[in-house]
Amino acid sequence: MNKTANRTANCVLLLLGLIGNGVFVQQGLAQTQCDPSKVMTVEACAKCHENEVKVWKSTPHFRSFDELSRRPKAKEICNNLGLRSPKRSQVCIDCHYTTQEIGGRAKPVSGISCESCHGSAKDWINIHNDYGGPTASKENESDDHRQQRFALSVDNGMKNTRNLYLIARSCYGCHTVPNEELVNFGGHNAGSMDFELVAWSQGQVRHNFLRTGGHANGVPEIERLRVMYVVGLIADLEFCTRATAKATSKSEYGINVANRSARASVKLFDLQQKINDRNIEHALRAFAGAELKINNTVQLEQIADEIQVAGQRFAETADGSKLGRVDSHLPKPNEYK
Ligand code: HEC
Ligand code: HEC
Ligand code: HEC
Ligand code: HEC
Repeated sequence: MNKTANRTANCVLLLLGLIGNGVFVQQGLAQTQCDPSKVMTVEACAKCHENEVKVWKSTPHFRSFDELSRRPKAKEICNNLGLRSPKRSQVCIDCHYTTQEIGGRAKPVSGISCESCHGSAKDWINIHNDYGGPTASKENESDDHRQQRFALSVDNGMKNTRNLYLIARSCYGCHTVPNEELVNFGGHNAGSMDFELVAWSQGQVRHNFLRTGGHANGVPEIERLRVMYVVGLIADLEFCTRATAKATSKSEYGINVANRSARASVKLFDLQQKINDRNIEHALRAFAGAELKINNTVQLEQIADEIQVAGQRFAETADGSKLGRVDSHLPKPNEYK
């Protein structure tokens, strides 16, 4: 597809030693839009998460709802694609709004919301904060119950903060803009080129009140930032590979996503030289066989599925206290978006 991208990918491939494809894992493609029949809206969260809502209202995720359709660039993109307005066009709705089913129709109700990142809440909203019935409290909840509560929330669609890979997938699903037509013919930008999970989640988007008992919006401890950084790199590789899987022509979109995949793999490879982690090894080995060329959907999606498995396992098992060698890679607080 692109010489540089292929060279870099091949270089990673040579360094790792080529191995065959791993097991095929059936995983759905990324979905950026919440299931509208299960969306509760931000109002449902506000009752208990007032501080988080306040922060959210100061972000571009919130503002997109009112601002997007007024932007000349949005009008231009819609014109190029023969669409009416962003709020009436499913393709824009997918990433810029949250929809809720009202009277059998999915209607945009807000910008990118709590549920865009944490998952449509209908099935988990009453589980995620249930310490074990009306008499139970956070303090007297047993470890077993807590584990079950987290697991049950995830089973019911919550992207909770216990496994950062789940939330990272939300970010990259939108921020890689995996839509060839939108970029090549619509003139939409080809995604957030410098998206990095720590820098992008710890600036204006940060809303960590829970861990400080509601008093302040705390920056996570360094151990968590290390895990988050690595999680971001693995998710980057997964989603750039997914985006490349959708490329059907050698044009702006295809060249860009292939380059981005190669770049993500090199970053992860560099880090692996320092921390030698078996899940990263798994992700890199899966990617080593990737041919970054057009119309290679099946292979690249299988590889992305493999990377996803590795990323989820990494997030579940990583011990941040042992990842000190990640520190020199972490963005500085003044680089937080
Ligand atoms: C009735 C009160 C209540 C409502 C309504 C509520 N939450 Fe929570 N939420 C809590 C409590 C309490 C906790 C802390 C749970 C704990 O101690 O583990 C929590 C924790 C969380 C967490 C962090 C824990 C994790 O596992 O990631 C997220 C994310 C979250 N809520 C999102 C939401 C969203 C999104 C909504 C709206 C769709 C919502 N909550 C609605 C009470 C509520
Ligand atoms: C796959 C997800 C996705 C889809 C689909 C999408 N966008 Fe975006 N859009 C984004 C992201 C992510 C950004 C922020 C990118 C950045 O970091 O600059 C963005 C930014 C924008 C911007 C501001 C950036 C600029 O160039 O001024 C406009 C305007 C825009 N989108 C219009 C649209 C319109 C109109 C549609 C529907 C035709 C659409 N988008 C569909 C993800 C998407
Ligand atoms: C449903 C799609 C979607 C998801 C999920 C999403 N974003 Fe965004 N994000 C956008 C769009 C679209 C914009 C641009 C909004 C606009 O300009 O109208 C944006 C803008 C941003 C900005 C502001 C960028 C700037 O240039 O000021 C930051 C920071 C950001 N996102 C971080 C994140 C992080 C971190 C995550 C995951 C934890 C995330 N986003 C998840 C779609 C998404
Ligand atoms: C752009 C994606 C995004 C949006 C939108 C978003 N969150 Fe989060 N949320 C995250 C991420 C990422 C974390 C983990 C951050 C960390 O560990 O530093 C998180 C963490 C949390 C936590 C746990 C904080 C703590 O101190 O442990 C709660 C509670 C929460 N979110 C609730 C909400 C609510 C309520 C909304 C809507 C008002 C919301 N989130 C909107 C991405 C998002």
